[in-house]
Amino acid sequence: QDNKLQAIIAHAKEYGFIFPSSEIYDGLSAVYDYGPWGSELKKNIKDYWWKSMTQLHENIVGIDAAIFMHPTTWKASGHVDNFSDPMIDNKDSKKRYRVDHLIEAHADKLAMEGKKEEEYALLKNMEQLLAKDDYVALKQLIEDNNIVDPVSGTCNWTDIRQFNLMFSTQLGSVTEEADTIYLRPETAQGIFVNFLNVQKSARMKIPFGIAQIGKAFRNEIVARQFIFRMREFEQMEMQYFVRPGSEGDWYQYWKEARLQWHLSLGIPASEYRYHDHTKLAHYAKEACDIEYNFPMGFREVEGIHSRSNFDLSQHQQYSGKKMTYFDTELNQHYVPYVIETSIGLDRMFLLILSNSYEEETLIKDDGSNDSRVVMRIPPVLAPIKLAILPLTKKDGLPDVARSIMNMCKPHFRCFYEEKDTIGKRYRRQDAIGTPFCITIDHQTKEDNTVTIRYRDTMQQERINIADIKAKVFALIGA
Ligand code: GAP
Repeated sequence: QDNKLQAIIAHAKEYGFIFPSSEIYDGLSAVYDYGPWGSELKKNIKDYWWKSMTQLHENIVGIDAAIFMHPTTWKASGHVDNFSDPMIDNKDSKKRYRVDHLIEAHADKLAMEGKKEEEYALLKNMEQLLAKDDYVALKQLIEDNNIVDPVSGTCNWTDIRQFNLMFSTQLGSVTEEADTIYLRPETAQGIFVNFLNVQKSARMKIPFGIAQIGKAFRNEIVARQFIFRMREFEQMEMQYFVRPGSEGDWYQYWKEARLQWHLSLGIPASEYRYHDHTKLAHYAKEACDIEYNFPMGFREVEGIHSRSNFDLSQHQQYSGKKMTYFDTELNQHYVPYVIETSIGLDRMFLLILSNSYEEETLIKDDGSNDSRVVMRIPPVLAPIKLAILPLTKKDGLPDVARSIMNMCKPHFRCFYEEKDTIGKRYRRQDAIGTPFCITIDHQTKEDNTVTIRYRDTMQQERINIADIKAKVFALIGA
């Protein structure tokens, strides 16, 4: 399974999905750049989420808040005091680890060695001790399991301490009175502080939601597993404001609705599971993760949190501004309760890569074996929807292909290519996940038909040029 992740990382680089950041300087740990096809796929994931949240829900509107916020925001939200993780240092190597990541890495190793019961017991123990913040017993657990520093192989551990994950910087020049400000560790607070601006300007009535997509930053100590845990990443969050007392029902509603969103992409339900939290974040009343079966095992891709009226009340207290809503039906003022859905865009991207990547063995006509790497990306998310390929560069075929390109490219992302054999061109499109290829051949000149080839089955059929646009639209399902 680790091999699969390595294969995906190599493939993502070779085919222009993801590059390590500033690679010519040997990269920057846990920071990545999205390439030509990666940026398309990422944008398509955003659009798919945004459409489902805003266009399909009449009572959810979007915002795009700034990354920098007034520093008191983070005092009120609890992040200055509570957004920290227990850390442990190795006195020999001077390496610092997040305790849960260190233990999880050891659990992964046990799982790989087939020691499933030991893995389970270790993780269960860890969860219980983390829930109690029992750092003495956690250190004991690390020592009892002979967990070593994965870099140096030694284990001269310090005590466990808290370490804040927010990045800070200075606003204003050094000569002026400089203020410490933070790079937001979640997009949610931009929504909370704008709650009344949005409610009043868009004339929203409870229950209603505010959606946002944007960058967030966390100084993750152990950044592992490619784009799973990054220092700069993007979140797609939605805060749903409800009447006090109705939060339990809405929590259940969004828990179910968000899983359905994942399944609507055609990803099998068996690859997902819920994980209900026992250890709650400082703001949460009830919380669960939607976990996906990544190459390294089931891991969180999305969180659904019942945040009570914690955030709005805190902002009311710290700002001295009222954060109440007047409910005309109840004839009552109250601070609304909030259900949050929060999904990592980059993590969703890794989910799509993991679910799509396949090394397929093929049997040729003469009985010998061949193989291909195919990315079975859901068509609605595929970076390129349609490749348009003239069989040869001669006999006027490129002219016909160009006219098809001109007909289709205003409607969905197309790709034109006339170099190399048709087989090689098909393989390249398979590798970037293009669901459909159109081939223009000599018969096209006679009867205005082309071949459409399907990525997943490699089946081909002839269709009329006039039908291409409608057919691809229908198959994309956008
Ligand atoms: N506003 C709530 C919140 O931020 P979270 O569980 O800390 O909750 C939500 O984060 C989601 O953001 C996670 O489920 C994950 O998909 C994504 N995420 C969090 N930290 C991340 C990181 N370091 N790298 C990539 N994605 C991350």
